[in-house]
Amino acid sequence: MCGIFAYYNSLVEKDRKTIIEVLLNGLARLEYRGYDSAGMGIDGDKPGEVILFKEVGKVAQLRKLISESKVDMNKTFDTQCAIAHTRWATHGPPSPVNCHPLRSDAKNEFIVVHNGIVTNSTELRLVLQKRGYRFESETDTEAVAVLSKYVWDSQPETHSDFTTLVKAVLTELEGSFAFVFKSVHFPNEIVTARRGSPLLIGVKTQKKLKVDFVDVEFAGEPGEANIAVPASDSKSLLAVPASSGAKVFRTQSRAFFSEDGVPEPIEFYVASDASAVIEHTKRVLFLEDDDIAHIAHGELHIHRLRRGDNKSSTRLIETLDLELAEIMKGKFDHFMQKEIYEQPESVINTMRGRVNFDNHVVTLGGLRQFLPIIRRGRRIVFCACGTSYHSAVATRAIFEELTEIPVGVELASDFLDRKTPIFRDDVCVFISQSGETADTILALRYCLERGALCVGIVNTVGSTLSRETHCGVHINAGPEIGVASTKAYTSQFIALLMFALVLSEDRISMGERRKQIIDGLHELPGQIKRVLEGDKALQDLARTTLANQRSLLIMGRGYQNATCLEGALKIKEISYMHSEGILAGELKHGPLALIDENMPVIIVMTRDSLFPKVQSALAQITARKAQPIIICNEDEEAFPKFKTIRVPKTVDCLQGLINIVPLQLLSYHLAIKNGFDVDFPRNLAKSVTTE
Ligand code: F6R
Repeated sequence: MCGIFAYYNSLVEKDRKTIIEVLLNGLARLEYRGYDSAGMGIDGDKPGEVILFKEVGKVAQLRKLISESKVDMNKTFDTQCAIAHTRWATHGPPSPVNCHPLRSDAKNEFIVVHNGIVTNSTELRLVLQKRGYRFESETDTEAVAVLSKYVWDSQPETHSDFTTLVKAVLTELEGSFAFVFKSVHFPNEIVTARRGSPLLIGVKTQKKLKVDFVDVEFAGEPGEANIAVPASDSKSLLAVPASSGAKVFRTQSRAFFSEDGVPEPIEFYVASDASAVIEHTKRVLFLEDDDIAHIAHGELHIHRLRRGDNKSSTRLIETLDLELAEIMKGKFDHFMQKEIYEQPESVINTMRGRVNFDNHVVTLGGLRQFLPIIRRGRRIVFCACGTSYHSAVATRAIFEELTEIPVGVELASDFLDRKTPIFRDDVCVFISQSGETADTILALRYCLERGALCVGIVNTVGSTLSRETHCGVHINAGPEIGVASTKAYTSQFIALLMFALVLSEDRISMGERRKQIIDGLHELPGQIKRVLEGDKALQDLARTTLANQRSLLIMGRGYQNATCLEGALKIKEISYMHSEGILAGELKHGPLALIDENMPVIIVMTRDSLFPKVQSALAQITARKAQPIIICNEDEEAFPKFKTIRVPKTVDCLQGLINIVPLQLLSYHLAIKNGFDVDFPRNLAKSVTTE
């Protein structure tokens, strides 16, 4: 849902070409968040001048536009603030004028990039128009740029401080946002703020951060300006109140100043996620809701929007455990393909250090101290969207079987629409790859308000969901960049299973079952590899049998219900083919009417206790002349007359982890065959940060 990237250098000489390249590369890494237009605002040749580049389409189009422009690419800057954006349209169609940065006026006095939605933008627009301000776009963001100019024009007290001006703007806004502001009135400064949309700041210093800074108590009021300083562990920076910290900062921090107070070279990178900064620095500071970060004179100051909101303004600078190679495609044509192929490895990473296969013990450090409360809870509610929701559907039955705690599974948006009753003794589990999905975050906050214990099952470290839940499990699948979620699904599935295994560790009656599942998990990576070896046959099947179809039904039951729902979602979102996951038990209650010799069907018939029932569903559809493709076990002899996709056999509750892989591959090949952009499916974005 839109990617934000900004670059600031102080005392690091760079020519314009290099600065633009940094911005374009940052945007390219964020492109999965939105890709219908892209733009940037950089410093012009004269002080206070701003140049805007905006283009419809992907970052490559913006690159082309810039390469054809006449600006002097060799001009050097030792300080530059440049802001950039890749858009997923919410207000107004993709067009150069709706593309970010949005500006306050023809002189570009204030320019803004934004991720999120300003819900009172229409009202703001009307008020500002009545006061004579003009608008050129259809976006909600433009109201923020114009409001900045209005504040500048009407509140002279803001002229000396960019942060004060931005605070005045933010207090008028409703909705969710991450912003970066740039202004001709505050050359060489940027202000960035968030509420509801993710934002982080990467810090790169030329010198190693020298640490002679030992535990210092800071007594500043929340809301005061803060300065980032190195902490005693040398791995982090602390944001400390300027009033109390400035003295200490000068004498003890070597990060940004030498002892005589002369500033050191430094670069800052503001981004919607870590993938955009990792090639420059691994040291990042995650902003929290209502943080306002001001970057100027080589310093980073963090403010709170409201004084006395009781939120600490200490922000650690963390060292990311992420390698550049993890966010590159490598030998693969698409991120989705790479991520499907990573699954033998990513499922191991999810279990690493947590599942002991020798003594059949599972440990989840992030939950340990909360286990007694969870066991005492009267029910568990899984809450998520899309693929993450399907991982909840996939594991609900085994969770209930192992723990004997009732489990409800909720789509986050519907959960909120219904204002579902939630109580203090409920345990609510929020599952999200990005950790930034607006519906899921709103559902989390709803449950927090009602006093429930909230657990996160999240891939993205430092995301809003992982920070706002009481406890949780990181699925450790590595960055997922393809818009269609694949490896996150299998890792979420395993994380939920491990959760159930931990909760049931003292249930003697479940001993054998738990052992069987843990042994099955041990075999899993090798079994997924075997499915991947059948990729060529799946490619042929996609090309010859399915590519020209308009519709595809995928049916199964029990544990395979989730496989059908998730397989159908993959097919529709990247191949744009209508596809429906059907619970085979429901067939005769309606969907059977769709079946004839022309309706393509995949039926999931791996062996488990429900096999005879699925056999009867098969009989019902073949009696109506369907020619199904059957997903079955490798050694299955029952279907000599049908096309089959054969997969290794595992424990019933794990079989979905294997069965989903051929469906992921089929959807991939269908999209390729039909010429669609697999990593950037139309109308979708990776991280859905608006409701
Ligand atoms: C489908 C897909 C989406 C996401 C959903 C939730 O391939 O990716 O359905 O699963 O938008 O996203 P997260 O897991 O980030 O909360």
